[in-house]
Amino acid sequence: MATTITIQDIADYEGQEVTLKGWLYLNTGKGKLQFLRLRDGTGIVQCVAFRPEIGDETFEALKRLGQESSLILTGTVRKDERAPGLPGGYEVGIKQVEVVQDAVDYPIGPKEHGVEFLMDNRHLWLRSSLQWAIMRVRATIKRAIIDFLDSSSFLNIDTPIITPAAAEGTSTLFEVDYFDEKAYLAQTGQLYNEANIMAFGKVYCFGPTFRAEKSKTRRHLAEFWMVEPEMAFFDLDDLMAFEEEFVSYIVQTTLRTRRAELELLGRDLTFLENVKPPFPRISYDEAVERLQAIRETTDDPELKELLQIEWGADFGSPHETELTKLFDRPVFVYGYPTQVKAFYMEPWPGRPEVCKSVDLLAPEGYGEIIGGSERMSNLDVLVEAINRHELPLQNYQWYIDLRRYGTVPHSGFGLGLERTVAWICGLAHIREASPYPRTLNRMWP
Ligand code: 4AD
Ligand code: MG
Repeated sequence: MATTITIQDIADYEGQEVTLKGWLYLNTGKGKLQFLRLRDGTGIVQCVAFRPEIGDETFEALKRLGQESSLILTGTVRKDERAPGLPGGYEVGIKQVEVVQDAVDYPIGPKEHGVEFLMDNRHLWLRSSLQWAIMRVRATIKRAIIDFLDSSSFLNIDTPIITPAAAEGTSTLFEVDYFDEKAYLAQTGQLYNEANIMAFGKVYCFGPTFRAEKSKTRRHLAEFWMVEPEMAFFDLDDLMAFEEEFVSYIVQTTLRTRRAELELLGRDLTFLENVKPPFPRISYDEAVERLQAIRETTDDPELKELLQIEWGADFGSPHETELTKLFDRPVFVYGYPTQVKAFYMEPWPGRPEVCKSVDLLAPEGYGEIIGGSERMSNLDVLVEAINRHELPLQNYQWYIDLRRYGTVPHSGFGLGLERTVAWICGLAHIREASPYPRTLNRMWP
């Protein structure tokens, strides 16, 4: 009896007879040889049928098998440097094939397809090797995030998805009918995290987050995953120092454990290799000056137009893209104008028009992957900010309580999982970083 194995372990079975269970990814032939590229979810391996060995009848049957036919295949593992696949370097000499189902007319072939067609068939497209590689990188990034925080004495504590109040501005709220009361899908778990740190010190939540974004950009999803660490007795400098360690760990772990997938994706790894502390830090003021300098020196009239910026305005994608091009690793931009940020950010000492916020922008034009800040710790300052933002004070009483009973300086941030996956994988659009993306014009399949 041959041992049933998964393709990822194939190197351990050289010279042995094994059974593989999977799907036919590619079926090609040449003369007396038929090449069945088999995938099983853990890898891809080339399996070779030799006509004189398996007989004419079986050989002809194999030749006719359609892409994505499900198979149980037995054969001998051979080392062959040239063999394609993942991990690659091994092939299987076929002895026997049991066809579980012969699939006919699988709609996604090796030829080019439009992205809308592929998105309509997302439930099938996930089987394609590039999509498969992205999801494996995504899983590794999630694991790295959790490992880093768990081993840094953070408590993972969940925050509600159904929430009664806004936290990140009222324009991106998804409304829910909560037994005839108005409620919203969570834009962030932060406000609850702030309560949780006063009980547990350092906490994080990691889960789905919702924004009714009316924008059709390469960076926005309506549903995405965000990890949000929050720390008591932490100021803005502590926050940046922590974020650079965190992001470097995520990138270096992914590079180490998913190099084959990143290479399959054609990712240029040089920028990723650079992701090590310290990251450059520039103030919003300096960022505006740099953008204005780029505008003054560029010969490109379109860029000049796109990069228009006055002090006080928020950055758009073009601004972030140009700023990241100035550095070889992620860059912190801190001290944004109070008016473009959420209500809860600590004012800059002596400069109330600026807040203790910091965004981390990923290189190569990827832009913001982290938004964070030091939070207001003073009760009166917070109440004034809630009123200034015209938010209903009664909804925030529990949050204000945190400034009544043992308030401390504290800080936290949110890292968007899909933006991080898109950056690390080098994707042109965030939608491929999510298994089933929700965007302005799509919630199927
Ligand atoms: O900057 P944001 O809005 O910050 C917060 O929500 C804070 N409450 C987080 C905190 O301090 N605990 O979002 C944080 C990150 C962004 O940097 C981005 O990576 C991601 O969440 N993000 C999105 N990702 C995909 N699609 C969207 N529509 C996103 N909006 C934010
Ligand atoms: Mg932000």
